[in-house]
Amino acid sequence: MAERTSKAELRQLARKHLWPCFSPLSETGSYPVIVSGDGCYVFDDDGKRYLDGLAGLFLTNVGHGRKELADAAYEQANKLHFFPLWTFAHPSAIELAAKLASLAPGDLNRVFFGSGGGDAVETAWKLVKQYFRAMGQPGRYKVISRNIAYHGTTLGALAITGVPEIRDRYAPLAPGAFHARNTHAYLQKEQGEELAEVCANDIERIILEEGPETVAAVFLEPVQNAGGCLVPPPTYFQRVREICDRHGVLLVSDETICAFGRLGHMFACNRYGYQPDIITCAKGLTSGYAPLGAAIVSDRLAEPFVDSDETFMHGITYSGHPIGCAIALANIEVLECENLPGRVLQYEDAFRSELETLYDLKFVGDIRGAGYFYGIELVKDSATHERFTEAERNHLLGGILSPRTFELGLICRTEDKAEPVIQLSPPLIAGPEEFREIVRILRQAITEAQEIMG
Ligand SMILES: Cc1ncc(COP(=O)(O)O)c(C=O)c1O
Repeated sequence: MAERTSKAELRQLARKHLWPCFSPLSETGSYPVIVSGDGCYVFDDDGKRYLDGLAGLFLTNVGHGRKELADAAYEQANKLHFFPLWTFAHPSAIELAAKLASLAPGDLNRVFFGSGGGDAVETAWKLVKQYFRAMGQPGRYKVISRNIAYHGTTLGALAITGVPEIRDRYAPLAPGAFHARNTHAYLQKEQGEELAEVCANDIERIILEEGPETVAAVFLEPVQNAGGCLVPPPTYFQRVREICDRHGVLLVSDETICAFGRLGHMFACNRYGYQPDIITCAKGLTSGYAPLGAAIVSDRLAEPFVDSDETFMHGITYSGHPIGCAIALANIEVLECENLPGRVLQYEDAFRSELETLYDLKFVGDIRGAGYFYGIELVKDSATHERFTEAERNHLLGGILSPRTFELGLICRTEDKAEPVIQLSPPLIAGPEEFREIVRILRQAITEAQEIMG
């Protein structure tokens, strides 16, 4: 084997050549270099161990270093590393499509593969547009999602994304995307079913203002990631489903993060009891062992394309990549054999209880989430609910918590797309021991931040 590049050289090469995501280029050479993973942990090039409290990027559901998944990739690469799904098929894509159809609720039986979450969202938008055209309703092309929700960065998905600082500099985006109120509940006037009602009604308001005959679909995550794990209040999804049905609008459940056990179910719509017309998914589909995404589509939506001349004029070279599909099949086998969704249901209360011990800290305002997916919203004073200024927020997250939690050996996410939050999404193999370690580190880092910031 060729001699590996030294640590110093790697940093120098990164500084000169690497362009990471959502990151200032000026800092590229100083990013940690992660070289290996094992279970809930990863290791940097100094051999230092970190608890991966974010599962990579909300995706390493079965944990790091799974030999079963590496073997599946190896076997598939030896047999057929690639062949397109453009007028051809291959066994791993066929088997995975059938497996996903068997796991997805209701009549979600048809699977279009891509390589990630954003292109699954693009696929879904194009598909609903064409579906309505084929059904004689070509005016329906608009979509509604929620404020601050993240659905990807390609120009169509970016239009659906509701984060102004990510969207605005790339205008004009694909026309026809609108954003409704999200279900952020902390410090809101409305709570519970009342919140569900106003948030669902806001979607209906847009449908009515735009004209139902122009609206194709509503895109929602079961638990909205950006903004800090915004859980749906009771009856929210039932109300949204009713509204969609009343106006002939389709419902897309963007489960890029929430599927494959993260919320204790293979598909998170099952947790909240609603039936989508399309599920978009990625990340936990392969636990990140290969890039793969999918739009799982109802028989009703596929119907105009079956036994007709109507062709979905959409394709991605790596759609249904054999290695990704083989890994996904092995990954789902692990999820099922080890009953990892069941494990999440078994331990989610323990996770929440452990996190809730942090409520005695002045900066800890709200702890919310479901399954193994939590956000901790930070405020200047939880007793008075005083919020941080923008400068304080930047100092707290970028200047203190982010570097300090990492230094203490925890990978989590600090973000301020809305109010400042710490986000956690550990691998589904985590248990009470890892929860304690997460909370021990967070307590230390937040306590230090309180001391520094007064
Ligand atoms: C809900 C949701 N949709 C879409 C995406 C985009 O996925 P990708 O980065 O694979 O394109 C993400 C990414 O985090 C996501 O969380």
